Amino acid sequence: MREWESPDYEPSLPISEKSNPLTRDIDRASATCIVRMLQASDAQMFQEGTGTTYKRLLSEQVVETLMEVAKRVELILEDPQDSLVVLSGCGTSGRIAFLMASSFNRALRELNKSPVYSYIIAGGDKALLSSQEAPEDDPRMGMLSLKRVCEGKRRVLFIGISCGLSAPFVAGQLDFCLQHPEVFTPVLVGVNPTHQARDEPIPGCTFTFRSVVQRMQELAKSQKAFLVNPAVGPEAISGSSRMKGGSVTKILLEVVLSAAHAATFTNTSVTYMGILQHMRAYEKTLDITYAQEEGISALLEAAGRSLRRGGRVCYLGWGSLAATGLIDASECIPTFGADYNDVRGFVSGGYRELNNNEGPLISLGPDFCIAHEDFLRLALPSLSDLDAVLLVYTHSDDVCDVVKLARRVREKTSNLHAVYHQVDGDTAAAVQQVSICPSIYLSIYLSIYLSIYLSIYLSSDEYTLVFFQWELSTKLLLNAVSTGAHVLKGKIYQNHMIDVQVTNSKLYGRATRLLRVYQIHRCEDALLKAIYRVDELTADISSSDINTHTLAARNRTKVRRRGGAWSAGGSNGCVTCSVCV
Ligand code: F6P
Repeated sequence: MREWESPDYEPSLPISEKSNPLTRDIDRASATCIVRMLQASDAQMFQEGTGTTYKRLLSEQVVETLMEVAKRVELILEDPQDSLVVLSGCGTSGRIAFLMASSFNRALRELNKSPVYSYIIAGGDKALLSSQEAPEDDPRMGMLSLKRVCEGKRRVLFIGISCGLSAPFVAGQLDFCLQHPEVFTPVLVGVNPTHQARDEPIPGCTFTFRSVVQRMQELAKSQKAFLVNPAVGPEAISGSSRMKGGSVTKILLEVVLSAAHAATFTNTSVTYMGILQHMRAYEKTLDITYAQEEGISALLEAAGRSLRRGGRVCYLGWGSLAATGLIDASECIPTFGADYNDVRGFVSGGYRELNNNEGPLISLGPDFCIAHEDFLRLALPSLSDLDAVLLVYTHSDDVCDVVKLARRVREKTSNLHAVYHQVDGDTAAAVQQVSICPSIYLSIYLSIYLSIYLSIYLSSDEYTLVFFQWELSTKLLLNAVSTGAHVLKGKIYQNHMIDVQVTNSKLYGRATRLLRVYQIHRCEDALLKAIYRVDELTADISSSDINTHTLAARNRTKVRRRGGAWSAGGSNGCVTCSVCV
């Protein structure tokens, strides 16, 4: 049995919050070792279970449930009138919901079919690009947003994503589905076993996440609800579900929706082997990606150097990979207490390419300017060797445009790198690529060895699945670069995030726990002193509820103790260190 699988390993925590024994020393590791640790952590996604402790991604029960869900989607695709598939989540889970809805609606449009997918992200579209943690705590907002999207529909497959089986926003939506079984079939996607679903009371509700899960388990016996929750091991950075949690969500949903599309449009039945093979393809993607260990380490080192010296890391992306960059960059803010300028993503085509529900968000400020033109206008003029720029594209993008932009960047910085995806044998583009970036040539080849399997799914776009693999590969790589760079900057202690705002109840609980782990006396008091910037707690503070605390914490950026007083901190400030001193 692996250490984290043992019932004695951090027994009070769900898997999604446990610390990963493989990455315990990540804060002291070299760039290459960080990459190896992340690879080992990611590989846990595809490991078989030892004993009967947890069901895993490739477990029979998981594959069978995926088949059933795919068949439900197929029914909707065959008769889409007044029907909808809604995907919803908070933070990364909502961003994955967005990516899935976009990709599969695009696939439908290419077949001249109407879209059937909708996404909901807690906090609305601005949460696609920025940290909006508070709405995660609001079950009513979740319920209302679902109700709004489904107005007038007679059949809805609702896919609620909460890696930790914990977000009240999603619990509110699932509860609503359970109350209206004539319209809704609920599916829950997460990475904790059901008995680890969060059981904390939700203010104003009679249910907890766990009680909703228990009701779903009952209905699952008659296939009126579905639970897809394989264990994939603790995150490399404890609780950072943007990493494995996000990757596995993407894998699960792409497998289900691709199988449903194949069944509907190419008459290929949903089969156990088909689902399994598709998942194995992603396992191969992981191997192919991390085979570039040297290149990834160099990139991580360069990004870390930039961040340490106060420089920026910019991702310039093309096609569907650009959104992956945008998302990775936006997640650095809540995960590492990063400034929005530290890591930024830009998309060729901007909001037109993103095609989000609410359209362009540029009126919200410069953080929401995401097009390459915005990069040229806002970032390029002040770019220097301190800043690292990463081009992310594939052989199917406009390579001339890539070259043009690369030349302009090189006039300002030699710290230019590229992640380039191609199918085997496309050497012409690779040669051109080398000439753009003589400094580091990082090329990831995704072989189309899968072509026999892929041909099952091929519709109008021969490379549909290859694109999904490229996206996963890009996600793994960018997650590694941004996480590793922040580790090198000192934003992680052991394998814990220590520079986070405690702006929702889950983060509040995590912060309190962290302080307890490090044996701080009266740890919750210490956290409250940091939030309210006081040396002594007043009766008012002590008697307030968690909502009030997380509301107050929203106005804190970094918190540290300076000369005995609690005050807004500088770049080294963090909740944990502040109470350690
Ligand atoms: O609120 C913080 C956070 O942990 C995000 O980082 C994460 O993406 C989001 O919550 C959603 O978590 P879950 O998928 O477990 O509901």
